[in-house]
Amino acid sequence: MKQLLFAIGIIVPLLVFAHGKEDHSKEKAKKKERLEEREQKHQKNKQTGQMKKMKKADLEIVNNNYQLRVKGFFKEKCIDCHGIPDAYPWYYKVPGIKQIMDYDIREAKEHLDMSNDFPFGGHGTPQSDLKELRKTVKKDSMPPLQYWIFHPSSRLNDDEKEIVLRWIDQSINRLNQ
Ligand code: HEC
Repeated sequence: MKQLLFAIGIIVPLLVFAHGKEDHSKEKAKKKERLEEREQKHQKNKQTGQMKKMKKADLEIVNNNYQLRVKGFFKEKCIDCHGIPDAYPWYYKVPGIKQIMDYDIREAKEHLDMSNDFPFGGHGTPQSDLKELRKTVKKDSMPPLQYWIFHPSSRLNDDEKEIVLRWIDQSINRLNQ
């Protein structure tokens, strides 16, 4: 009897404690969720605020210049992953390679989707996309190495880089006006 009481004496507080802890962490998770939701809303409002501030006419001018001066290079060198290519290369059909490429394409488009010209699709705002683009062009980090070693001509050459960078800078200036 004594042993039983002793056991109950240990088990009950343990259960209560464990339960209490569980409730606590649930509450914490909910709180975190609420905070995250609020943060997301805040980001969204900020983005739509930025979009509203940008005049539609300015976005159109930027897009016109994109189509005239830049799109040709991107169509040739980036669209395989960042858009809808006219045709996939023959090795796309090779099992294993197809999976790697599909993954790359999904990733690439989530970041920057060029399918519908400017403003690009993906997770960024027009400005942040232009800034990311400027970084990658300056660092020469796109296309990724594992791609350009098979397609050496897919890298932007110096003349193309200059044209792209000029378009980026002009566009950022215009959208920030
Ligand atoms: C073989 C596929 C492939 C090609 C071709 C390619 N990219 Fe990418 N790109 C990716 C992937 C995957 C990511 C996302 C992961 C990362 O940043 O490495 C990405 C990310 C980017 C980003 C970052 C976007 C952001 O907001 O983080 C920019 C900018 C970009 N690419 C520009 C280009 C340009 C410009 C070209 C052509 C000159 C190009 N890419 C060609 C696969 C590709």
